[in-house]
Amino acid sequence: MTKMDLRSIADLDARQMQEIFLLAADMKDHPENYTSCLKGRTMAMINEKQSLRTKVTFETGIQQLGGFAVYLTNQDINLGKREPVKDIARNLSRWVDLIVARVYRQATILEMAEYASIPVINALSDESHPCQAVSDMFTLWDQVRGRDSLRGFKLAYIGDGNNVCHSLILIAGLVGLHLVISTPPGYEPEARFVDRGRRMAEEIGGLVTFEPCPRKAVAGADGIYTDVWTSMGQEAETAKRLVDFKDYQVNDELLSHAPDHVKIMHCLPAHRGEEITDSVLESPRSIVFDQAENRLHGQKAIMKYLLDHSRR
Ligand code: CP
Ligand code: NVA
Repeated sequence: MTKMDLRSIADLDARQMQEIFLLAADMKDHPENYTSCLKGRTMAMINEKQSLRTKVTFETGIQQLGGFAVYLTNQDINLGKREPVKDIARNLSRWVDLIVARVYRQATILEMAEYASIPVINALSDESHPCQAVSDMFTLWDQVRGRDSLRGFKLAYIGDGNNVCHSLILIAGLVGLHLVISTPPGYEPEARFVDRGRRMAEEIGGLVTFEPCPRKAVAGADGIYTDVWTSMGQEAETAKRLVDFKDYQVNDELLSHAPDHVKIMHCLPAHRGEEITDSVLESPRSIVFDQAENRLHGQKAIMKYLLDHSRR
């Protein structure tokens, strides 16, 4: 028995990434060809945190492929407290074909993947958000680069060095992106992601750099990406973060330092007036709702790809 998980972007290589992009593109162009490719397959989705995009796109995604979703909140299963994660993983493996989990601790994803005999997909942890990064890179590849290489595309990430930032760092090394990270002191991404992202980037021609000044970071950028200053689970730090991040807002003044063609990206949900202003989010340069749409195509491709590369 073999199975393929998506615990982190580090589970993918550049060839697999390209295959997932091509599959997502074909699913987007010809959804009618895939209406029964996962017929009879069931996905269990575990959510310890809130979600709009991830929940809806995974659930509708598997239905569009002919499969079925079982949605489990912590009220249902009380993950790790009512019974250990490893027991949940082994129970689910006897009934369903795929586990999608949004959790606090990355260790929960790792334990779930270790004990499950079926693919496990990380639908966000405190440490990473791989499905988001795949759909974001698919968005750039699909509509900004016309399904051509992302090599040399300069993306300025402004804000918190968080889960989304970690996954962008790792994926930069798979697609050849030049990622410039601009965070306030003390909010840098973890060094182990930067080291790994840089190692992966060296092989394929990508680049991960730091520029503490946001204005300098966006100079010459093809895209600007931001995310909330306070992620789920960090609510007690909100007041401090509002002060610490105040110079890192993506607003019209910051955009005046970027080229006219720059695209604005955000994983959503956005806190308008904090990390991004309403006018920037609603501007013609914003591709945030394309990113949101592509969560559907990207995750349909991920589910099919992992199941096609797993044998029970
Ligand atoms: N971007 C994202 O993952 O959105 P949700 O938290 O609503 O799923
Ligand atoms: N960094 C955010 C992403 C939400 C999709 C969070 O973890 O809350």
